[in-house]
Amino acid sequence: MWVLLVGSEGFRRFVPGKCCRDQLYFQGGLAVEDQDVVVVVVVAAAAVPLDRLEVLDADKYENDPELEKIRKERNYSWMDIITICKDKLPNYEEKIKMFYEEHLHLDDEIRYILDGSGYFDVRDKEDKWVRISMEKGDMITLPAGIYHRFTLDEKNYVKAMRLFVGDPVWTPYNRPADHLEARGQYVQFLAQTA
Ligand SMILES: [Fe+2]
Repeated sequence: MWVLLVGSEGFRRFVPGKCCRDQLYFQGGLAVEDQDVVVVVVVAAAAVPLDRLEVLDADKYENDPELEKIRKERNYSWMDIITICKDKLPNYEEKIKMFYEEHLHLDDEIRYILDGSGYFDVRDKEDKWVRISMEKGDMITLPAGIYHRFTLDEKNYVKAMRLFVGDPVWTPYNRPADHLEARGQYVQFLAQTA
């Protein structure tokens, strides 16, 4: 399975598309608004070797040296496991609605899918939705300040590891939240990757 290895420098999809200059390009999901298949806008600032993209085994997350390595390198000191399905998540309906509200955070949102599947939707440079399909073995880091939302797919089940640098803060800031410093920094970063 594929893994994403980025933080504040951007997000990357797990299916490799093509390599160009110093950046990796990844095939994205569907642009929700126009239903065309699109290539995810590349917001990566540095290349990650392809052999680093296929390292995680979700079946051995409890004792996976590769996961440990990523956590150490990126200082993901905190973690827990969340199961999102009707029977296991208290206030399920309310939470699902909240996850699907377009929002941002002041910190990176890091998820490692251990079982099941779901979708992260993120805004591209043109402010269009890009849908990222996440399944077992995928890890994603959504940088602080990016507008996004999450939903389950038809299986209505996902089990995910939540990782965080330091003590976790989950506060979502629903759009519009352009006045926040994290948003400003992210927009600035996007402009630099033009
Ligand atoms: Fe979020």
